[in-house]
Amino acid sequence: MLSAPVTPHAVGAGVFVAFEGGDGAGKSTQARLLGDWVGEQGREVVLTREPGGTELGRTVRDVVLHGDHVTPRAEALLFAADRAHHVASLVRPALDRGAVVLTDRYVDSSIAYQGAARELACAEIRDLSLWATQGLLPHLTVLLDVAPKQGRARRGDVHDRLEREGEDFHDRVRRGFLDLAAADPSRYLVLDGDKPPEELHEAVVDRFRRLDQARAS
Ligand code: TYD
Repeated sequence: MLSAPVTPHAVGAGVFVAFEGGDGAGKSTQARLLGDWVGEQGREVVLTREPGGTELGRTVRDVVLHGDHVTPRAEALLFAADRAHHVASLVRPALDRGAVVLTDRYVDSSIAYQGAARELACAEIRDLSLWATQGLLPHLTVLLDVAPKQGRARRGDVHDRLEREGEDFHDRVRRGFLDLAAADPSRYLVLDGDKPPEELHEAVVDRFRRLDQARAS
Protein backbone atom coordinates (compact mmCIF):
# COMPACT_ATOMS: atom_id res chain seq x y z
CA MET A 1 0.00 0.00 0.00
CA LEU A 2 2.80 2.43 0.87
CA SER A 3 6.02 3.45 -0.82
CA ALA A 4 9.38 3.09 0.96
CA PRO A 5 9.99 5.33 4.00
CA VAL A 6 11.82 8.57 3.31
CA THR A 7 14.63 9.76 5.58
CA PRO A 8 13.89 13.17 7.10
CA HIS A 9 15.88 15.96 5.47
CA ALA A 10 18.46 17.73 7.62
CA VAL A 11 16.56 20.20 9.75
CA GLY A 12 18.99 22.25 11.80
CA ALA A 13 19.44 21.30 15.42
CA GLY A 14 15.77 21.01 16.24
CA VAL A 15 13.62 18.01 17.08
CA PHE A 16 10.36 17.40 15.23
CA VAL A 17 7.63 15.26 16.81
CA ALA A 18 4.14 14.62 15.40
CA PHE A 19 1.12 13.41 17.38
CA GLU A 20 -1.36 11.38 15.36
CA GLY A 21 -4.51 9.40 15.93
CA GLY A 22 -8.22 9.28 15.28
CA ASP A 23 -10.61 11.94 16.47
CA GLY A 24 -10.82 12.08 20.25
CA ALA A 25 -7.67 9.95 20.74
CA GLY A 26 -6.11 12.44 23.18
CA LYS A 27 -3.21 13.62 21.00
CA SER A 28 -3.75 17.32 21.76
CA THR A 29 -3.47 16.58 25.49
CA GLN A 30 -0.27 14.58 25.00
CA ALA A 31 1.26 17.24 22.73
CA ARG A 32 0.53 19.89 25.35
CA LEU A 33 1.91 17.78 28.23
CA LEU A 34 5.15 17.08 26.34
CA GLY A 35 5.35 20.78 25.42
CA ASP A 36 5.11 21.74 29.10
CA TRP A 37 7.80 19.19 29.99
CA VAL A 38 10.19 20.36 27.26
CA GLY A 39 9.62 23.99 28.29
CA GLU A 40 10.51 23.10 31.89
CA GLN A 41 13.89 21.85 30.59
CA GLY A 42 14.56 25.44 29.49
CA ARG A 43 14.27 24.70 25.77
CA GLU A 44 12.32 26.52 23.12
CA VAL A 45 9.19 24.59 22.29
CA VAL A 46 6.76 25.31 19.46
CA LEU A 47 3.38 23.66 19.87
CA THR A 48 1.40 23.74 16.66
CA ARG A 49 -1.24 21.86 14.68
CA GLU A 50 -2.65 20.96 11.30
CA PRO A 51 -4.82 22.14 9.82
CA GLY A 52 -4.62 25.68 11.16
CA GLY A 53 -1.13 26.27 12.55
CA THR A 54 -0.79 29.56 10.61
CA GLU A 55 -3.10 32.41 9.72
CA LEU A 56 -3.58 31.06 6.20
CA GLY A 57 -4.07 27.62 7.74
CA ARG A 58 -6.91 28.88 9.92
CA THR A 59 -8.76 29.99 6.80
CA VAL A 60 -8.10 26.60 5.16
CA ARG A 61 -9.27 24.85 8.34
CA ASP A 62 -12.54 26.72 8.26
CA VAL A 63 -13.19 25.80 4.63
CA VAL A 64 -12.19 22.16 4.89
CA LEU A 65 -13.74 21.31 8.26
CA HIS A 66 -16.71 23.61 8.56
CA GLY A 67 -17.68 24.45 4.97
CA ASP A 68 -20.01 22.68 2.56
CA HIS A 69 -19.18 19.46 0.75
CA VAL A 70 -15.58 19.32 -0.54
CA THR A 71 -14.68 16.72 -3.17
CA PRO A 72 -12.02 14.18 -2.05
CA ARG A 73 -9.21 15.48 -4.27
CA ALA A 74 -9.94 19.09 -3.37
CA GLU A 75 -9.92 18.05 0.30
CA ALA A 76 -6.51 16.38 -0.14
CA LEU A 77 -5.13 19.49 -1.83
CA LEU A 78 -6.47 21.81 0.86
CA PHE A 79 -4.78 19.80 3.64
CA ALA A 80 -1.58 19.72 1.56
CA ALA A 81 -1.74 23.50 0.99
CA ASP A 82 -2.13 24.07 4.74
CA ARG A 83 0.86 21.77 5.36
CA ALA A 84 3.09 23.41 2.74
CA HIS A 85 2.55 26.85 4.24
CA HIS A 86 2.84 25.57 7.81
CA VAL A 87 6.17 23.84 7.18
CA ALA A 88 7.77 26.63 5.17
CA SER A 89 6.68 29.52 7.36
CA LEU A 90 6.66 28.02 10.86
CA VAL A 91 8.07 24.49 11.26
CA ARG A 92 11.35 24.73 9.31
CA PRO A 93 12.36 28.14 10.71
CA ALA A 94 11.76 26.83 14.25
CA LEU A 95 13.78 23.65 13.60
CA ASP A 96 16.56 25.75 12.11
CA ARG A 97 16.66 27.76 15.38
CA GLY A 98 17.04 24.49 17.28
CA ALA A 99 13.52 24.44 18.75
CA VAL A 100 11.52 21.36 19.65
CA VAL A 101 8.49 21.42 17.34
CA LEU A 102 5.43 19.41 18.38
CA THR A 103 2.64 19.20 15.84
CA ASP A 104 -0.86 17.93 16.51
CA ARG A 105 -1.36 16.00 13.20
CA TYR A 106 0.89 15.91 10.13
CA VAL A 107 1.42 13.85 6.94
CA ASP A 108 0.05 10.61 8.42
CA SER A 109 -3.36 12.23 8.96
CA SER A 110 -3.61 12.86 5.22
CA ILE A 111 -2.56 9.30 4.40
CA ALA A 112 -5.03 7.84 6.92
CA TYR A 113 -8.03 10.14 6.23
CA GLN A 114 -7.70 11.08 2.54
CA GLY A 115 -5.82 7.91 1.51
CA ALA A 116 -7.00 4.92 3.55
CA ALA A 117 -10.44 6.26 4.52
CA ARG A 118 -11.48 8.34 1.47
CA GLU A 119 -9.85 5.67 -0.65
CA LEU A 120 -7.56 7.88 -2.71
CA ALA A 121 -4.22 6.16 -3.40
CA CYS A 122 -2.11 6.28 -0.22
CA ALA A 123 1.16 6.52 -2.18
CA GLU A 124 -0.16 9.54 -4.12
CA ILE A 125 -1.34 11.28 -0.96
CA ARG A 126 2.04 10.65 0.64
CA ASP A 127 3.87 12.00 -2.43
CA LEU A 128 1.65 15.08 -2.45
CA SER A 129 2.56 15.81 1.18
CA LEU A 130 6.24 15.15 0.58
CA TRP A 131 6.15 17.58 -2.34
CA ALA A 132 4.35 20.13 -0.15
CA THR A 133 6.87 19.82 2.68
CA GLN A 134 9.98 19.25 0.54
CA GLY A 135 10.37 15.87 2.18
CA LEU A 136 10.22 16.90 5.83
CA LEU A 137 9.23 13.99 8.07
CA PRO A 138 9.18 13.96 11.88
CA HIS A 139 11.98 12.36 13.87
CA LEU A 140 9.26 10.67 15.90
CA THR A 141 5.52 10.13 15.47
CA VAL A 142 3.45 9.35 18.55
CA LEU A 143 0.35 7.43 17.52
CA LEU A 144 -2.48 7.37 20.04
CA ASP A 145 -4.64 4.44 19.12
CA VAL A 146 -8.27 4.27 20.26
CA ALA A 147 -11.32 2.47 18.94
CA PRO A 148 -13.46 4.92 16.91
CA LYS A 149 -16.45 4.37 19.26
CA GLN A 150 -14.31 5.42 22.21
CA GLY A 151 -13.04 8.51 20.36
CA ARG A 152 -16.57 9.47 19.42
CA ALA A 153 -17.72 9.18 23.03
CA ARG A 154 -14.86 11.40 24.22
CA ARG A 155 -15.50 14.07 21.58
CA GLY A 156 -19.05 14.68 22.69
CA ASP A 157 -21.60 16.32 20.41
CA VAL A 158 -19.59 18.78 18.34
CA HIS A 159 -18.57 17.20 15.04
CA ASP A 160 -16.70 18.66 12.08
CA ARG A 161 -17.12 17.43 8.49
CA LEU A 162 -14.65 14.54 8.88
CA GLU A 163 -15.87 13.54 12.33
CA ARG A 164 -19.40 13.16 10.96
CA GLU A 165 -18.27 10.32 8.68
CA GLY A 166 -19.50 6.83 9.60
CA GLU A 167 -17.99 4.00 11.61
CA ASP A 168 -16.41 2.33 8.53
CA PHE A 169 -14.60 5.50 7.61
CA HIS A 170 -13.12 5.82 11.10
CA ASP A 171 -12.17 2.13 11.14
CA ARG A 172 -10.20 2.70 7.92
CA VAL A 173 -8.54 5.77 9.48
CA ARG A 174 -7.43 3.70 12.44
CA ARG A 175 -6.13 0.88 10.23
CA GLY A 176 -4.31 3.44 8.05
CA PHE A 177 -2.41 4.86 11.03
CA LEU A 178 -1.51 1.42 12.37
CA ASP A 179 -0.24 0.30 8.94
CA LEU A 180 2.00 3.35 8.71
CA ALA A 181 3.49 2.65 12.14
CA ALA A 182 4.01 -1.03 11.31
CA ALA A 183 5.84 -0.13 8.07
CA ASP A 184 8.45 2.03 9.84
CA PRO A 185 8.47 1.06 13.57
CA SER A 186 11.69 2.86 14.52
CA ARG A 187 10.06 6.25 13.85
CA TYR A 188 6.87 5.52 15.81
CA LEU A 189 5.67 5.22 19.36
CA VAL A 190 2.27 3.52 19.33
CA LEU A 191 0.29 3.92 22.55
CA ASP A 192 -3.04 2.63 23.75
CA GLY A 193 -5.07 5.83 24.02
CA ASP A 194 -7.36 4.21 26.63
CA LYS A 195 -4.60 4.43 29.23
CA PRO A 196 -4.62 7.34 31.72
CA PRO A 197 -3.06 10.56 30.33
CA GLU A 198 -0.30 10.62 33.02
CA GLU A 199 0.81 7.10 32.12
CA LEU A 200 0.86 7.96 28.41
CA HIS A 201 2.81 11.13 29.17
CA GLU A 202 5.50 9.13 30.99
CA ALA A 203 5.91 6.85 27.97
CA VAL A 204 6.13 9.85 25.64
CA VAL A 205 8.78 11.57 27.79
CA ASP A 206 10.78 8.36 28.04
CA ARG A 207 10.83 7.96 24.25
CA PHE A 208 11.56 11.66 23.69
CA ARG A 209 14.55 11.47 26.05
CA ARG A 210 15.96 8.50 24.15
CA LEU A 211 15.47 10.25 20.81
CA ASP A 212 17.19 13.35 22.15
CA GLN A 213 20.16 11.35 23.48
CA ALA A 214 20.54 9.49 20.19
CA ARG A 215 20.54 12.78 18.26
CA ALA A 216 23.08 14.35 20.65
CA SER A 217 25.59 11.48 20.41
P1 TYD B 1 -8.24 18.03 14.65
O1 TYD B 1 -8.30 19.50 14.79
O2 TYD B 1 -7.00 17.37 15.10
O3 TYD B 1 -9.52 17.43 15.30
P2 TYD B 1 -9.57 16.59 16.62
O4 TYD B 1 -8.91 17.44 17.67
O5 TYD B 1 -11.04 16.42 16.81
O6 TYD B 1 -8.84 15.32 16.34
O7 TYD B 1 -8.38 17.61 13.11
C1 TYD B 1 -9.43 18.06 12.38
C2 TYD B 1 -9.89 17.03 11.38
O8 TYD B 1 -9.12 17.11 10.18
C3 TYD B 1 -9.82 15.60 11.84
O9 TYD B 1 -11.09 15.02 11.66
C4 TYD B 1 -8.84 14.94 10.90
C5 TYD B 1 -8.85 15.82 9.69
N1 TYD B 1 -7.60 15.83 8.89
C6 TYD B 1 -7.56 15.18 7.66
O10 TYD B 1 -8.56 14.57 7.23
N2 TYD B 1 -6.42 15.22 6.92
C7 TYD B 1 -5.30 15.89 7.34
O11 TYD B 1 -4.27 15.92 6.63
C8 TYD B 1 -5.35 16.56 8.62
C9 TYD B 1 -4.15 17.30 9.12
C10 TYD B 1 -6.52 16.50 9.37
